[in-house]
Amino acid sequence: MKSLQSIIFLIRLLIFYHTTITPILTTSTSTSNSDFSPTAAVPQCIDYSDPLDFGKHIIKPCPNKARLKGSNTNFQNDLSSGNSSNMFVLQFTCGETNTTLCKKAKSAFEAAGKIITAAFIFKAPIVIDANFLDLNDPRLLGAASPTRLMPIVSEDSVPRMYPQALVKQFQYSVHPDYSPTDILAKFNSGADFWFQGDGPIGPQQSNFHTVILHELFHGLGFSSSYRDYFDLLLGQPSEGITAFPMLDSNSTNPTFNDPLKFSGFIETIFDKFIMILPDKSDPSGTKPLPISYFTNQLNQFGPLNTIFPNINVLTSQIMGSPQWKSVAQYLIKKATVANTFVFVPRGGTLANATYLETNLKVYSSGSSISHVSLAKYTNTNDFLMRYSLESGVTIEDLIIKGGNYSGGAIGPRLRAIMNSIG
Ligand SMILES: *[C@@H]1O[C@H](CO)[C@@H](O)[C@H](O)[C@H]1NC(C)=O
Ligand SMILES: *[C@@H]1O[C@H](CO)[C@@H](O)[C@H](O)[C@H]1NC(C)=O
Ligand SMILES: *[C@@H]1O[C@H](CO)[C@@H](O)[C@H](O)[C@H]1NC(C)=O
Ligand SMILES: *[C@@H]1O[C@H](CO)[C@@H](O)[C@H](O)[C@H]1NC(C)=O
Ligand SMILES: *[C@@H]1O[C@H](CO)[C@@H](O)[C@H](O)[C@H]1NC(C)=O
Ligand SMILES: [Zn+2]
Repeated sequence: MKSLQSIIFLIRLLIFYHTTITPILTTSTSTSNSDFSPTAAVPQCIDYSDPLDFGKHIIKPCPNKARLKGSNTNFQNDLSSGNSSNMFVLQFTCGETNTTLCKKAKSAFEAAGKIITAAFIFKAPIVIDANFLDLNDPRLLGAASPTRLMPIVSEDSVPRMYPQALVKQFQYSVHPDYSPTDILAKFNSGADFWFQGDGPIGPQQSNFHTVILHELFHGLGFSSSYRDYFDLLLGQPSEGITAFPMLDSNSTNPTFNDPLKFSGFIETIFDKFIMILPDKSDPSGTKPLPISYFTNQLNQFGPLNTIFPNINVLTSQIMGSPQWKSVAQYLIKKATVANTFVFVPRGGTLANATYLETNLKVYSSGSSISHVSLAKYTNTNDFLMRYSLESGVTIEDLIIKGGNYSGGAIGPRLRAIMNSIG
């Protein structure tokens, strides 16, 4: 167990701040192709404040708003500027005094924005809050995350969390309230980065451009909700993974002893396309199953909207439940067996699937599942979303090693994945 101090800190991050909570799992109905229909229920969004620490988030109401039309002074409200060469609006903050370095970092962000713009169809600009500063640890390169995840009902009538950057593209006439920025990015000016135009890359250097491109895809929704939330809360080794738990306390300053309402587990839109394949340890006859099947099982825990006297009671009841054993513990074990989690693109079959990272012998929150398999896609045209990128090579080197794909760094699998979620 971590100290009480740090547990309280973590709990606060997982909790609603408001009292009028309607259960997320019964929110409005719509599909991503028709209009989002507002209901009396106030959607609950997840806001992140630090891309380097996904634990730093709060759940809060994001009441439905009518879309502002024709406003081109306010980027967060659908500028609809059409296809410019860079649909990413950069709010760049440089914490370095070396202006040459700041300029290089800024132009790398701009280049990454142009590359992504050219690969997909964007209808609304995406605002990146980008920070380049010394993170006081040369091993840290940087990270990006959506600023806000919002619940939207997918075609299968299941609400899932979508990054705001994608929701904007759907151009709903009514949508959950937007945060002023779409993607949070933080990169380490203290890391040994190589920039376009520098001399030959050194063996220990990372190509800044590659890292930004990779991270921006996480910010655009390349991310599973499945993580070890409860183990993290207790500060113990990972024993189970679940979809995102929606917890609600009436306290604005919740402590260890506050009552909590639990209103279910929610997936990200990325999860909608994940299938779990049988491995040797499964009984014969086990069929591939969507991860959503397991999320449904998790949601048998409850009943939903039960109020628990405190976080310890909630956690111990979850960990003592049959769902913990059959889902959380089962899936964390699968997440350390190669080739068990796949992403099946929209309209595709298992033959079209992309293997996700489940090769790490110890489950690693953030590296496992939310990346493509390092073993499968090294030296292929889908190298970009592996959890580990080689130092000492430029993005051009990686493209050539991958077979000089005509689409550059954004491989065909990554395109299919992004087309599926967006
Ligand atoms: C926008 O894209 C269309 C095709 O998708 C193209 O014909 C048109 O020239 C583009 N406009 C600009 C301003 O880039
Ligand atoms: C500033 O950064 C540039 C580019 O990395 C580097 O070449 C230069 O030496 C730096 N200047 C100072 C004063 O550190
Ligand atoms: C919060 O307060 C409301 C209204 O008093 C109550 O219905 C709800 O159960 C409370 N939730 C928790 C988690 O205590
Ligand atoms: C799936 O793979 C088949 C065979 O390669 C291909 O024809 C089809 O277009 C793919 N579908 C998707 C959705 O990627
Ligand atoms: C890679 O492809 C481009 C065209 O897309 C070509 O101009 C270039 O020569 C190729 N490079 C190698 C090393 O094959
Ligand atoms: Zn990553």
